[in-house]
Amino acid sequence: MTPGAQPLYLPAFVIMNKKPHVAVVGATGAVGVEMIKTLEKRNFPVGKLTLLASARSVGKKLKFKGEEIAVRELTKDSFAGIDIALFSAGGAISKEFAPIAAKAGCVVVDNSSAFRQDEKVPLVIPEINASDVKWHKGIIANPNCTTAITLMALFPLHHAFGCKRIFAASYQAVSGTGAKAIEELKRQVEEIVAGQAATNEVYPHQIAFNVLPHVDSFLPGGYTKEEMKMENEGRKIMHHPNFHASVTCVRVPVYRSHSVAVNAEFERPVTVEAARAVLKKAPGLDLIDEPENKKYPMPLFTSEKYNCEVGRIRKDCAMDNGLAFWVCGDQLLKGAALNAVQIAEELVK
Ligand SMILES: NC(=O)c1ccc[n+]([C@@H]2O[C@H](COP(=O)([O-])OP(=O)(O)OC[C@H]3O[C@@H](n4cnc5c(N)ncnc54)[C@H](OP(=O)(O)O)[C@@H]3O)[C@@H](O)[C@H]2O)c1
Repeated sequence: MTPGAQPLYLPAFVIMNKKPHVAVVGATGAVGVEMIKTLEKRNFPVGKLTLLASARSVGKKLKFKGEEIAVRELTKDSFAGIDIALFSAGGAISKEFAPIAAKAGCVVVDNSSAFRQDEKVPLVIPEINASDVKWHKGIIANPNCTTAITLMALFPLHHAFGCKRIFAASYQAVSGTGAKAIEELKRQVEEIVAGQAATNEVYPHQIAFNVLPHVDSFLPGGYTKEEMKMENEGRKIMHHPNFHASVTCVRVPVYRSHSVAVNAEFERPVTVEAARAVLKKAPGLDLIDEPENKKYPMPLFTSEKYNCEVGRIRKDCAMDNGLAFWVCGDQLLKGAALNAVQIAEELVK
């Protein structure tokens, strides 16, 4: 992770084109579609847009700035002339094609977990560690969605009061699993309402009218990979090697936007008022904390919204210097597409 480390993926230092040719890899997926919309909405200075997916999608057309762009098949030769490639086609595709893209002189912003712990790859949330973009060697990793949303509220508090550890439980939307999981929830709701048995293909159990304490695969200690990302990625993004996180990740029958209940312990004393003052000023975050008026963050209201929301802030009654809070955010945006486009914006600055 040292700035002077040997280049791993990039042959030479590249000065970024100010009107870059951008490729979206996985353009037809839940995240890919949001990347295209986000590039347009934020008026990213796209010189040319190339849309890549599997052979299954060849012939499909997707709209960008009123223009229909045909989806092309991802191959090893897809990256000639491309300046920035936003990858969201899964870890196996990233592992195979991101180094090829980087060797072709393209900067990859990768949404999968393939490179997040690679010490030669920056892992970036621009509101927290934008300057890490500078030491990239051709690949920059986008963080896990639940981690990104949690850190949007936790990092400002850490900066002010020094976070020692957190205990958290997530409430994760089905779109976090991709386009097929959105279909699965819709189908199951229809089946159940029609009095039929729910059929499941994506999740190991029925997700409609249920919650699954199971996101990603189980590790030997009993946590899931998703749960351990909070500690591992949190340490790298916050530059905080002693950060500890004990997390339970839960899939809930919500279409879009993740929620996380967090209990955080700090080095220094913290009051609710001081925490609110810090969070009010935090970039990319809205403070919605008026429980007396029934105002608190909810996934319905953070869906399709760029900013995350934090509320239910209270002193934790079970630990010293502790705070409890609730954070919600659109995981397809801040947890994926928006964060990736913000990283691309850093590249063209
Ligand atoms: N969903 C989220 O909230 C979220 C958040 C953060 C990170 N991510 C990460 O983003 C990635 C994509 O997630 P998603 O939810 O968008 O999944 P998704 O809806 O299932 O989309 C997958 C995309 O990958 C493409 N793809 C699959 N196999 C391919 C192949 N062999 N060659 C080229 N393209 C291929 C698909 O193309 P076809 O349509 O042609 O099959 C599709 O465009 C994953 O790594 C995921 O972990 C997702």
